[in-house]
Amino acid sequence: MKKILVTGGLGFIGSHTVVELQNEGFEVVIIDDLSNSSVTVLDGIVSITGIKPEFIKLDLKDKPAVINFFNTHQNIAGVIHFAASKAVGESVENPLLYYENNITTLIYVLQALEKHKIPNFIFSSSCTVYGQADELPITENAPIKKAESPYGNTKQIGEEIIQDVCKISENLNAIALRYFNPVGAHPSTKIGELPIGTPQNLVPYITQTAIGLREQLSVFGDDYNTPDGTAIRDYIHVVDLAKAHVAALQRLIANHSGGSTYETFNIGTGTGSSVLEVIQSFEKVSGKKLNYKIVGKREGDITAAYAHTRKVNDILGWKAQLTLEDAMRDAWKWEQKIRS
Ligand code: WQD
Repeated sequence: MKKILVTGGLGFIGSHTVVELQNEGFEVVIIDDLSNSSVTVLDGIVSITGIKPEFIKLDLKDKPAVINFFNTHQNIAGVIHFAASKAVGESVENPLLYYENNITTLIYVLQALEKHKIPNFIFSSSCTVYGQADELPITENAPIKKAESPYGNTKQIGEEIIQDVCKISENLNAIALRYFNPVGAHPSTKIGELPIGTPQNLVPYITQTAIGLREQLSVFGDDYNTPDGTAIRDYIHVVDLAKAHVAALQRLIANHSGGSTYETFNIGTGTGSSVLEVIQSFEKVSGKKLNYKIVGKREGDITAAYAHTRKVNDILGWKAQLTLEDAMRDAWKWEQKIRS
Protein backbone atom coordinates (compact mmCIF):
# COMPACT_ATOMS: atom_id res chain seq x y z
CA MET A 1 0.00 0.00 0.00
CA LYS A 2 1.63 3.29 -1.10
CA LYS A 3 1.96 5.90 1.64
CA ILE A 4 1.05 9.47 0.70
CA LEU A 5 1.72 12.56 2.81
CA VAL A 6 -1.04 15.17 2.60
CA THR A 7 0.00 18.52 4.07
CA GLY A 8 -3.01 20.63 5.08
CA GLY A 9 -4.94 17.37 5.04
CA LEU A 10 -7.53 18.54 7.58
CA GLY A 11 -8.45 21.56 5.47
CA PHE A 12 -11.40 21.88 3.09
CA ILE A 13 -9.86 20.42 -0.09
CA GLY A 14 -7.24 18.40 1.78
CA SER A 15 -9.78 16.42 3.83
CA HIS A 16 -11.87 15.56 0.78
CA THR A 17 -8.69 14.43 -1.00
CA VAL A 18 -7.70 12.21 1.94
CA VAL A 19 -11.09 10.46 1.63
CA GLU A 20 -10.62 9.82 -2.09
CA LEU A 21 -7.03 8.62 -1.57
CA GLN A 22 -8.23 6.12 1.03
CA ASN A 23 -11.05 5.06 -1.28
CA GLU A 24 -8.37 4.23 -3.88
CA GLY A 25 -6.34 2.16 -1.40
CA PHE A 26 -3.59 4.63 -0.50
CA GLU A 27 -2.25 4.87 3.06
CA VAL A 28 -2.44 8.52 4.14
CA VAL A 29 -0.37 10.53 6.61
CA ILE A 30 -1.66 14.04 7.38
CA ILE A 31 0.34 17.03 8.54
CA ASP A 32 -1.72 20.05 9.59
CA ASP A 33 -1.01 22.98 11.94
CA LEU A 34 -4.76 23.40 12.64
CA SER A 35 -4.48 27.16 11.93
CA ASN A 36 -7.42 26.94 9.53
CA SER A 37 -9.00 23.59 10.40
CA SER A 38 -10.02 21.42 13.33
CA VAL A 39 -8.93 18.00 14.54
CA THR A 40 -12.62 17.01 14.46
CA VAL A 41 -12.24 16.79 10.68
CA LEU A 42 -10.23 13.61 11.34
CA ASP A 43 -13.37 12.05 12.87
CA GLY A 44 -15.31 13.07 9.79
CA ILE A 45 -12.81 11.32 7.52
CA VAL A 46 -12.91 8.15 9.62
CA SER A 47 -16.73 8.18 9.67
CA ILE A 48 -16.73 8.15 5.85
CA THR A 49 -13.97 5.64 5.11
CA GLY A 50 -13.58 3.74 8.38
CA ILE A 51 -9.82 4.30 8.12
CA LYS A 52 -8.01 6.62 10.53
CA PRO A 53 -5.07 8.33 8.80
CA GLU A 54 -1.98 9.08 10.89
CA PHE A 55 -2.16 12.76 11.87
CA ILE A 56 0.77 14.90 13.01
CA LYS A 57 0.09 18.44 14.22
CA LEU A 58 3.07 20.30 12.80
CA ASP A 59 3.85 23.80 11.59
CA LEU A 60 5.76 23.42 8.33
CA LYS A 61 7.57 26.71 9.06
CA ASP A 62 9.39 24.78 11.81
CA LYS A 63 12.29 23.48 9.72
CA PRO A 64 13.76 21.11 12.35
CA ALA A 65 10.30 19.60 12.84
CA VAL A 66 9.93 19.08 9.09
CA ILE A 67 13.35 17.42 8.89
CA ASN A 68 12.50 15.20 11.86
CA PHE A 69 9.16 14.22 10.34
CA PHE A 70 10.73 12.96 7.12
CA ASN A 71 13.55 11.25 9.01
CA THR A 72 10.98 9.32 11.01
CA HIS A 73 8.55 8.57 8.18
CA GLN A 74 10.24 6.42 5.60
CA ASN A 75 8.60 4.95 2.45
CA ILE A 76 6.56 8.02 1.58
CA ALA A 77 5.70 7.52 -2.11
CA GLY A 78 4.37 10.99 -2.73
CA VAL A 79 3.35 14.32 -1.24
CA ILE A 80 0.23 16.39 -1.94
CA HIS A 81 0.92 19.89 -0.64
CA PHE A 82 -2.19 21.85 0.37
CA ALA A 83 -0.82 23.59 3.47
CA ALA A 84 -0.95 27.34 2.78
CA SER A 85 -2.85 30.47 3.69
CA LYS A 86 -5.53 31.19 1.06
CA ALA A 87 -7.52 34.35 1.78
CA VAL A 88 -6.99 36.86 -1.02
CA GLY A 89 -8.02 39.92 1.00
CA GLU A 90 -5.99 38.93 4.06
CA SER A 91 -2.92 38.49 1.85
CA VAL A 92 -3.18 42.12 0.70
CA GLU A 93 -3.30 43.31 4.32
CA ASN A 94 -0.57 40.96 5.56
CA PRO A 95 1.74 40.04 2.65
CA LEU A 96 4.67 38.89 4.78
CA LEU A 97 2.46 36.35 6.55
CA TYR A 98 1.60 34.90 3.14
CA TYR A 99 5.14 34.90 1.73
CA GLU A 100 6.50 33.32 4.91
CA ASN A 101 3.76 30.73 5.28
CA ASN A 102 3.24 29.77 1.65
CA ILE A 103 6.78 29.97 0.26
CA THR A 104 8.98 28.93 3.21
CA THR A 105 6.90 25.81 3.85
CA LEU A 106 7.05 24.82 0.18
CA ILE A 107 10.85 25.16 0.24
CA TYR A 108 11.21 22.97 3.36
CA VAL A 109 8.94 20.29 1.88
CA LEU A 110 10.82 20.28 -1.43
CA GLN A 111 14.16 20.05 0.39
CA ALA A 112 12.86 16.98 2.18
CA LEU A 113 11.64 15.39 -1.07
CA GLU A 114 15.08 15.87 -2.61
CA LYS A 115 16.91 14.57 0.47
CA HIS A 116 14.73 11.46 0.73
CA LYS A 117 14.36 11.01 -3.05
CA ILE A 118 10.56 11.09 -2.84
CA PRO A 119 9.54 11.02 -6.50
CA ASN A 120 5.98 12.34 -6.64
CA PHE A 121 4.73 15.82 -5.74
CA ILE A 122 1.41 17.55 -6.32
CA PHE A 123 1.12 21.29 -5.71
CA SER A 124 -2.14 23.06 -4.88
CA SER A 125 -2.17 25.97 -7.31
CA SER A 126 -4.91 28.24 -8.56
CA CYS A 127 -6.45 29.74 -11.69
CA THR A 128 -5.64 33.06 -10.05
CA VAL A 129 -2.22 32.78 -11.72
CA TYR A 130 -3.93 33.76 -15.00
CA GLY A 131 -5.47 36.98 -13.67
CA GLN A 132 -8.10 38.07 -16.22
CA ALA A 133 -7.21 35.76 -19.10
CA ASP A 134 -7.38 37.24 -22.61
CA GLU A 135 -9.19 34.19 -23.97
CA LEU A 136 -11.95 32.00 -22.50
CA PRO A 137 -12.07 29.11 -21.75
CA ILE A 138 -8.61 29.27 -20.18
CA THR A 139 -5.98 26.74 -21.28
CA GLU A 140 -2.78 25.84 -19.42
CA ASN A 141 -0.86 27.81 -22.08
CA ALA A 142 -2.62 31.06 -21.19
CA PRO A 143 -0.04 33.65 -20.14
CA ILE A 144 0.68 34.02 -16.45
CA LYS A 145 -0.20 37.60 -15.57
CA LYS A 146 0.99 39.83 -12.78
CA ALA A 147 -0.69 38.52 -9.64
CA GLU A 148 -3.57 40.60 -8.30
CA SER A 149 -2.68 39.71 -4.69
CA PRO A 150 0.20 38.36 -2.60
CA TYR A 151 -1.84 35.14 -2.29
CA GLY A 152 -1.91 34.75 -6.07
CA ASN A 153 1.78 35.68 -6.23
CA THR A 154 2.68 32.89 -3.80
CA LYS A 155 1.06 30.43 -6.21
CA GLN A 156 3.02 31.83 -9.16
CA ILE A 157 6.29 31.84 -7.21
CA GLY A 158 5.54 28.35 -5.91
CA GLU A 159 5.13 27.00 -9.43
CA GLU A 160 8.39 28.66 -10.52
CA ILE A 161 10.28 27.17 -7.55
CA ILE A 162 8.98 23.69 -8.38
CA GLN A 163 9.94 24.08 -12.04
CA ASP A 164 13.48 25.14 -11.09
CA VAL A 165 13.85 22.16 -8.76
CA CYS A 166 12.56 19.77 -11.42
CA LYS A 167 15.21 21.08 -13.83
CA ILE A 168 18.02 19.85 -11.59
CA SER A 169 16.36 17.00 -9.74
CA GLU A 170 17.21 13.44 -10.71
CA ASN A 171 13.85 11.98 -9.82
CA LEU A 172 11.21 14.59 -8.91
CA ASN A 173 7.96 14.31 -10.86
CA ALA A 174 5.68 17.24 -10.08
CA ILE A 175 2.20 18.34 -11.11
CA ALA A 176 0.63 21.72 -10.30
CA LEU A 177 -3.16 21.62 -10.22
CA ARG A 178 -4.66 25.04 -10.94
CA TYR A 179 -8.05 24.98 -9.21
CA PHE A 180 -10.90 27.15 -10.34
CA ASN A 181 -13.54 27.72 -7.64
CA PRO A 182 -13.88 24.84 -5.17
CA VAL A 183 -17.40 24.63 -3.65
CA GLY A 184 -19.76 22.21 -1.96
CA ALA A 185 -19.14 19.52 0.67
CA HIS A 186 -19.03 15.74 0.97
CA PRO A 187 -22.56 14.34 0.30
CA SER A 188 -22.31 12.40 3.58
CA THR A 189 -22.25 15.79 5.45
CA LYS A 190 -19.36 14.36 7.52
CA ILE A 191 -16.83 16.90 6.14
CA GLY A 192 -17.14 20.26 4.42
CA GLU A 193 -15.93 23.84 4.46
CA LEU A 194 -15.37 25.43 7.89
CA PRO A 195 -14.67 29.11 7.15
CA ILE A 196 -13.33 30.94 10.19
CA GLY A 197 -15.02 34.31 10.76
CA THR A 198 -16.81 36.10 7.95
CA PRO A 199 -16.59 34.03 4.76
CA GLN A 200 -14.71 35.74 1.92
CA ASN A 201 -16.00 33.28 -0.68
CA LEU A 202 -19.42 33.36 -2.32
CA VAL A 203 -20.90 29.94 -1.53
CA PRO A 204 -20.27 29.79 2.24
CA TYR A 205 -21.64 33.35 2.45
CA ILE A 206 -24.76 32.21 0.61
CA THR A 207 -25.35 29.23 2.92
CA GLN A 208 -24.67 31.30 6.06
CA THR A 209 -27.15 33.92 4.84
CA ALA A 210 -29.76 31.24 4.08
CA ILE A 211 -29.42 29.72 7.54
CA GLY A 212 -29.69 33.12 9.22
CA LEU A 213 -26.08 33.58 10.37
CA ARG A 214 -25.64 36.53 7.99
CA GLU A 215 -28.23 39.20 7.35
CA GLN A 216 -27.81 39.62 3.61
CA LEU A 217 -25.46 38.62 0.80
CA SER A 218 -23.77 41.48 -1.04
CA VAL A 219 -23.38 40.78 -4.74
CA PHE A 220 -20.18 42.51 -5.79
CA GLY A 221 -21.17 44.29 -8.97
CA ASP A 222 -23.77 43.77 -11.70
CA ASP A 223 -22.19 45.91 -14.38
CA TYR A 224 -19.57 43.48 -15.64
CA ASN A 225 -19.45 42.73 -19.36
CA THR A 226 -21.36 39.44 -18.89
CA PRO A 227 -24.89 38.33 -19.90
CA ASP A 228 -26.48 39.24 -16.57
CA GLY A 229 -23.83 41.76 -15.48
CA THR A 230 -22.45 39.66 -12.60
CA ALA A 231 -19.03 38.01 -12.64
CA ILE A 232 -18.52 34.51 -13.97
CA ARG A 233 -16.49 31.69 -12.36
CA ASP A 234 -16.03 27.95 -12.83
CA TYR A 235 -17.46 26.36 -9.67
CA ILE A 236 -16.14 22.84 -9.17
CA HIS A 237 -17.52 20.41 -6.60
CA VAL A 238 -14.85 19.70 -3.99
CA VAL A 239 -15.34 15.91 -4.38
CA ASP A 240 -14.56 16.16 -8.12
CA LEU A 241 -11.56 18.31 -7.26
CA ALA A 242 -10.37 15.71 -4.73
CA LYS A 243 -10.64 12.97 -7.37
CA ALA A 244 -8.48 15.05 -9.72
CA HIS A 245 -5.66 14.80 -7.15
CA VAL A 246 -5.92 11.02 -7.13
CA ALA A 247 -5.85 10.97 -10.94
CA ALA A 248 -2.75 13.21 -10.94
CA LEU A 249 -1.02 11.00 -8.37
CA GLN A 250 -1.80 7.88 -10.36
CA ARG A 251 -0.28 9.51 -13.45
CA LEU A 252 2.89 10.37 -11.55
CA ILE A 253 3.22 6.87 -10.14
CA ALA A 254 2.51 5.20 -13.49
CA ASN A 255 4.89 7.46 -15.41
CA HIS A 256 7.82 7.36 -13.05
CA SER A 257 10.51 6.44 -15.51
CA GLY A 258 13.40 8.16 -13.77
CA GLY A 259 14.35 11.71 -14.58
CA SER A 260 12.17 14.61 -13.70
CA THR A 261 8.94 16.11 -15.08
CA TYR A 262 6.74 19.10 -14.40
CA GLU A 263 3.16 19.49 -15.67
CA THR A 264 0.26 21.85 -14.98
CA PHE A 265 -3.46 21.09 -15.27
CA ASN A 266 -6.50 23.35 -15.05
CA ILE A 267 -9.05 21.76 -12.75
CA GLY A 268 -12.53 23.07 -13.49
CA THR A 269 -15.82 21.94 -14.97
CA GLY A 270 -15.31 23.95 -18.17
CA THR A 271 -18.59 25.77 -17.51
CA GLY A 272 -18.86 29.34 -16.26
CA SER A 273 -21.64 30.44 -13.91
CA SER A 274 -22.50 34.00 -12.91
CA VAL A 275 -23.09 35.06 -9.32
CA LEU A 276 -26.82 35.39 -10.02
CA GLU A 277 -26.87 31.91 -11.59
CA VAL A 278 -25.23 30.49 -8.45
CA ILE A 279 -27.86 32.22 -6.32
CA GLN A 280 -30.66 30.88 -8.55
CA SER A 281 -29.18 27.38 -8.38
CA PHE A 282 -29.00 27.58 -4.59
CA GLU A 283 -32.60 28.85 -4.31
CA LYS A 284 -33.76 26.00 -6.53
CA VAL A 285 -32.15 23.20 -4.53
CA SER A 286 -32.78 24.73 -1.08
CA GLY A 287 -36.28 26.06 -1.66
CA LYS A 288 -35.10 29.21 0.14
CA LYS A 289 -35.39 32.77 -1.17
CA LEU A 290 -31.97 34.33 -0.64
CA ASN A 291 -31.74 37.84 0.77
CA TYR A 292 -29.16 39.72 -1.32
CA LYS A 293 -28.40 43.16 -2.67
CA ILE A 294 -26.24 44.44 -5.47
CA VAL A 295 -23.29 46.56 -4.31
CA GLY A 296 -20.11 47.86 -5.94
CA LYS A 297 -17.40 45.64 -7.41
CA ARG A 298 -14.83 44.10 -5.07
CA GLU A 299 -11.26 45.36 -5.55
CA GLY A 300 -9.17 42.89 -7.56
CA ASP A 301 -12.05 40.77 -8.88
CA ILE A 302 -11.91 39.70 -12.52
CA THR A 303 -14.87 39.55 -14.91
CA ALA A 304 -14.79 35.92 -15.94
CA ALA A 305 -12.79 32.72 -15.62
CA TYR A 306 -13.61 29.16 -16.61
CA ALA A 307 -11.39 26.26 -17.56
CA HIS A 308 -10.55 24.65 -20.89
CA THR A 309 -10.62 21.02 -19.76
CA ARG A 310 -9.26 19.11 -22.77
CA LYS A 311 -5.79 18.59 -21.31
CA VAL A 312 -6.98 17.19 -17.98
CA ASN A 313 -9.67 15.10 -19.71
CA ASP A 314 -7.22 13.60 -22.22
CA ILE A 315 -4.09 13.21 -20.11
CA LEU A 316 -5.39 12.58 -16.58
CA GLY A 317 -8.57 10.91 -17.79
CA TRP A 318 -10.46 13.08 -15.32
CA LYS A 319 -13.66 15.03 -15.93
CA ALA A 320 -15.96 16.75 -13.43
CA GLN A 321 -19.02 14.59 -12.79
CA LEU A 322 -20.97 16.76 -10.36
CA THR A 323 -23.01 19.84 -11.25
CA LEU A 324 -23.44 23.27 -9.72
CA GLU A 325 -26.77 22.08 -8.30
CA ASP A 326 -25.04 19.07 -6.70
CA ALA A 327 -22.58 21.48 -5.09
CA MET A 328 -25.33 23.81 -3.86
CA ARG A 329 -27.28 20.86 -2.47
CA ASP A 330 -24.24 19.50 -0.61
CA ALA A 331 -23.13 22.93 0.64
CA TRP A 332 -26.62 23.56 2.02
CA LYS A 333 -26.90 20.10 3.66
CA TRP A 334 -23.50 20.73 5.27
CA GLU A 335 -24.44 24.20 6.56
CA GLN A 336 -27.63 22.80 8.10
CA LYS A 337 -25.67 19.92 9.66
CA ILE A 338 -23.01 22.08 11.34
CA ARG A 339 -25.59 24.56 12.67
CA SER A 340 -27.95 21.90 13.98
C1 WQD B 1 -16.64 34.37 -6.52
C2 WQD B 1 -17.54 35.43 -7.13
C3 WQD B 1 -17.11 37.63 -6.28
C4 WQD B 1 -18.41 36.87 -2.18
C5 WQD B 1 -10.91 33.26 -4.85
C6 WQD B 1 -9.44 33.03 -5.12
C7 WQD B 1 -9.24 31.64 -5.66
C8 WQD B 1 -9.78 30.68 -4.65
C9 WQD B 1 -11.28 30.93 -4.49
C10 WQD B 1 -8.62 29.83 -2.75
C11 WQD B 1 -16.79 36.72 -7.45
C12 WQD B 1 -18.51 37.16 -5.90
C13 WQD B 1 -18.08 36.72 -3.52
C14 WQD B 1 -19.52 37.68 -1.82
C15 WQD B 1 -19.92 38.13 -4.13
N1 WQD B 1 -9.10 30.84 -3.42
N2 WQD B 1 -18.83 37.34 -4.48
N3 WQD B 1 -20.25 38.27 -2.82
O1 WQD B 1 -12.64 35.54 -5.83
O2 WQD B 1 -13.36 33.92 -7.68
O3 WQD B 1 -11.59 33.22 -6.07
O4 WQD B 1 -11.43 32.28 -3.99
O5 WQD B 1 -8.69 28.65 -2.98
O6 WQD B 1 -7.86 31.40 -5.83
O7 WQD B 1 -9.00 33.94 -6.11
O8 WQD B 1 -13.93 33.42 -5.30
O9 WQD B 1 -15.93 32.96 -3.93
O10 WQD B 1 -14.52 35.01 -3.39
O11 WQD B 1 -15.92 35.00 -5.44
O12 WQD B 1 -20.59 38.70 -5.02
O13 WQD B 1 -19.86 37.85 -0.61
O14 WQD B 1 -18.54 35.77 -6.17
O15 WQD B 1 -17.13 39.00 -6.65
O16 WQD B 1 -17.35 37.27 -8.63
P1 WQD B 1 -12.90 34.15 -6.29
P2 WQD B 1 -15.08 34.09 -4.42
